[in-house]
Amino acid sequence: MRTQVAIIGAGPAGLLLAHLLHRGGVEAVVLETRSQEYVASRIRAGILESSSVELLESAGLGDRLRAEGHEHRGIYLQWPGERHHLDFVDLTGRSVWVYGQTEVQKDLVAAGTAAVFYEVTDVELHDVESDRPYVTFVDAEGASQRLDADAIAGCDGSFGPSRHAVPAQTFERVYPYSWLGILADVAPSTDELIYAWHPNGFALHSMRSETVSRLYLQVPNGTDPASWPDDRIWEELATRLGHGQDGWKLTPGPITDKSVLPMRSYVQTPMRHGRVFLAGDAAHIVPPTGAKGLNLAIADVTLLSRALIALLVSNDATLAGAYSDDALRRVWRCTHFSWWMTTMLHTSGDPFDAQLQLSQLRWVASSEAGARGLAENYAGLPIGF
Ligand code: FAD
Ligand code: DHB
Repeated sequence: MRTQVAIIGAGPAGLLLAHLLHRGGVEAVVLETRSQEYVASRIRAGILESSSVELLESAGLGDRLRAEGHEHRGIYLQWPGERHHLDFVDLTGRSVWVYGQTEVQKDLVAAGTAAVFYEVTDVELHDVESDRPYVTFVDAEGASQRLDADAIAGCDGSFGPSRHAVPAQTFERVYPYSWLGILADVAPSTDELIYAWHPNGFALHSMRSETVSRLYLQVPNGTDPASWPDDRIWEELATRLGHGQDGWKLTPGPITDKSVLPMRSYVQTPMRHGRVFLAGDAAHIVPPTGAKGLNLAIADVTLLSRALIALLVSNDATLAGAYSDDALRRVWRCTHFSWWMTTMLHTSGDPFDAQLQLSQLRWVASSEAGARGLAENYAGLPIGF
């Protein structure tokens, strides 16, 4: 089998890249180890920054997002006794949208622009330093296959094989805490997201729709979700989110999903070697506090699609040569922002750290310069920053 771009991984990075290449007249085939149903139902990110929304709209993927997503002007930042609204629109002219990764994934599948082999195994990359790289794999029927291509896009997340095909320097930070995340069938108790610092640990009130809430609690690494029965979760969320503070109430409801997410920062440089290009979680992981993981994947494939279209349609290698450096500028900005949000909001147990965090939070909430710094990063920098 032959195509122009072999894409490994059908997460948001892989499917969006296939879609953007298709629109630019470049053919791609996507290989994915999981089933289509599994990939479509994985509960993950929920916030799209403004440049992601603009990109999805310009790629013809904005209709359901505009109709069913929710635009937020900003977020609430809180600590015991105080809740402050940061209005990103006033501060930067940009907003964010609540629209789940599952929905982005559904829109990409519905667009029908990607040829995907699901449930493949034994994916291996070959001859990536040549102009004729290829991928071997075993398809869902058990047949060995060879996919020849002009380029390979590694969009296979942090556990896929692509990143091992790129000799790279790696940078990593593991955090001493995790998130316990729940999805609940209850109307959100807030109009916009609440990021809460509390001596017991960080809490976040997010949402997916008018009837579905998404909430997170900081928990120690290695926490077993079974040690958190539903009542204990709602009680702790009420404490950390300030139930009763200025008359605000957290309304509990049936929990439909519960999981523990470890947190780490990871960057691999460069993001390209020969004809293999990495995008999304295959090249970098951020802790979720800044809501950047999905947005970075979208920014990477926007740059990568332009580079591959120039390379394969116009035989112009300039953007392909610049891809890694261009993508990494934004990756490092988001890596710093995610680390900064994480270390500002999660308690470490050290009283000195706690005082520094509270001082930082007060400054961000009360200084226009502080608030604008957070807003610019959260609402998102332009593609190509
Ligand atoms: P992925 O979505 O991981 O897609 C990679 C794909 O490659 C997967 O479908 C995988 O099955 C496939 N694959 C793996 N190995 C192979 C192989 N050998 N061959 C073929 N295919 C392969 N970000 C946020 O901003 N907010 C959040 O709340 C948030 N929550 C998260 C929760 C979890 C549990 C996880 C894991 C991530 C979360 N993220 C969150 C991060 C965000 O979801 C990712 O940054 C985003 O999914 C990156 O997209 P991607 O396409 O690069 O990678
Ligand atoms: C969500 C996740 C995040 O990591 C975040 O910062 C905001 C929202 C969410 O899943 O809704």
